[in-house]
Amino acid sequence: MSTVRNRLGERRTALGPRVLRRLPAGVESAPYELFELRPYGPLIGAEVHGVDLREPVGPELFAELDRALVEWKVLFFRDQPIDSAQHRAFARLWGELEVHPFLAQGDVPEVVRFSKGADSAGVENVWHTDVTWRQEPALGSVLRAIDVPEYGGDTLWADMAAAYDNLPADVQERIEGRTAVHDFAFTFGLGMDPDAFAKMREQYPPVEHPVVRTHPVTGRKTLFVNEFFTDHIVGLPDDESEELLAFLFKQSTAPEYQARFRWSPDSVVVWDNRATVHYAVNDYHPHIRVMERAAILGDRPY
Ligand SMILES: [Fe+2]
Repeated sequence: MSTVRNRLGERRTALGPRVLRRLPAGVESAPYELFELRPYGPLIGAEVHGVDLREPVGPELFAELDRALVEWKVLFFRDQPIDSAQHRAFARLWGELEVHPFLAQGDVPEVVRFSKGADSAGVENVWHTDVTWRQEPALGSVLRAIDVPEYGGDTLWADMAAAYDNLPADVQERIEGRTAVHDFAFTFGLGMDPDAFAKMREQYPPVEHPVVRTHPVTGRKTLFVNEFFTDHIVGLPDDESEELLAFLFKQSTAPEYQARFRWSPDSVVVWDNRATVHYAVNDYHPHIRVMERAAILGDRPY
């Protein structure tokens, strides 16, 4: 890969062909028998056709959906008029669900309702992985559109295994074996009343996660820092940590590693939170955007 440099000879970014490897080395993609997959690109994101989420999902169908999720990292379903309880049941196939400590709930406790537009704007327009300030961040999430704006409000996901694959070798060496501190204090914590903050702080102290995690299913090395919650890299001076994080954030969201979804009513999206960052575009105000999300409990990154 070539490099763009400034007049001092310092590296700005890479250009030219990128490594676009979706599967672990040596693994071939097997066909899907129970639905059709329509990929959005070579790496990440595929639309699933031929599945009706109002019907119970049996073990065989679930096994194929789970394989597709790990392989494509984000699955898109359209025209799925399900309710919150069906939403919860679908997410529950992947495991126990999270009850989010900060966010308001919808009709069922594990399903969070996000309603934005007329009097408030979404604040998820920073690239992030959900709840990485927890010891065990979510495995994945299931997000469903209730009311979509007439334009805008797309969500983007980026593939963090591809982000790792494409880092320059010297940067891969610099982050090898390093950990970073993740903290809710500078996002959810801002503007919290001091007593409530102290309580949350006790329950959720800053946590350290590896800068490069190993995906528990594929074994792939996956970059695991995000602009929202990663505060600093442990063991580096602040300025060096900031400089390195800024480089990693920028590299992790090249358009080649992204999928962008235009919501329609009753669309449902499942993503692998262990392998992606996402970004909710805040360009629909004052139109209303109502979504519901269930987050699946995950494991400790290693
Ligand atoms: Fe999010």
